[in-house]
Amino acid sequence: MATELLCLSLLILNLLLHMSTTAESAAATTDFIKSSCKATRYPVACVESLSGYASKIRQSEEELASTALSVSVSKTRSCVSSLEKMEKTKGLKVRENNAVQDCIENMNDSVDNLNRSLKELGLLGKRKGKDSRWHISNIQTWVSAAMTYQDTCLDSIDDANSKSSIKPKVVDASQVTSNALALVNRFASKYRT
Ligand SMILES: *[C@@H]1O[C@H](CO)[C@@H](O)[C@H](O)[C@H]1NC(C)=O
Ligand SMILES: *[C@@H]1O[C@H](CO)[C@@H](O)[C@H](O)[C@H]1NC(C)=O
Repeated sequence: MATELLCLSLLILNLLLHMSTTAESAAATTDFIKSSCKATRYPVACVESLSGYASKIRQSEEELASTALSVSVSKTRSCVSSLEKMEKTKGLKVRENNAVQDCIENMNDSVDNLNRSLKELGLLGKRKGKDSRWHISNIQTWVSAAMTYQDTCLDSIDDANSKSSIKPKVVDASQVTSNALALVNRFASKYRT
C-alpha cells in the first residue's frame, strides 16, 4: 500500500514537472517568435501568422524561416483560389475582369517561386554549409520575385479601381511574404563566413 502511494505521488510529481517544463518551453518559443518578428517589416502580422505553429518552430531559426515560407505559400495560394472564384462572377467590368486575370497569373507565378524557395531552403538546411551561398542566393532571388508578382497584382487591383474584396487578402499575403524573406535572411546570416 505504501509503495503504491509512493508510486502514485511520484507519478503526479513527474506529471507536474512535465507540465511546467512544457509551459516554460511554450513561453520561450513565444518569446523567440516575438523577438525574431521584430526584425520584420510587419511584426504584428508576423507574430499573428506564426504563433499557431509554436510547437513545430520551437526555437529553431530554420523551422521559423520554413514555416514563414509555408504560410506565405498557403496565403498566396488561397488568393489564387479566391481570384478564380471572382473570375466566374457575372457582371464584372472589363477592367475588373482584366485585373482578376492579371492577378491570377501573377499570384500563381508567386506561388511557383515560393514553392521553389521552400525546396531550396530544405537543401540549404541539409547540406550544412556546402554550396550554401548558392542556395541562399537562389532563395533570396525567388522570394523577391514572389514579392514582385504580388505587388504587380496589387497594382492591377488599384488600377481597376474596383471595390475589390480581394485586396486585403493580397495585402496580407504580401506582408507575410516580406516577413518570410526577412526571417530567411536571419537564418541565412549564420551561414555567412
Ligand atoms: C500556375 O503555375 C503552374 C506551374 O508553373 C502552371 O503549370 C499552371 O499552368 C499555372 N496556372 C495558371 C492559372 O497560370
Ligand atoms: C506549389 O506547391 C503545392 C504543394 O506542394 C502544389 O500543390 C502547387 O501546385 C504548386 N504550385 C505551383 C504554382 O507551382
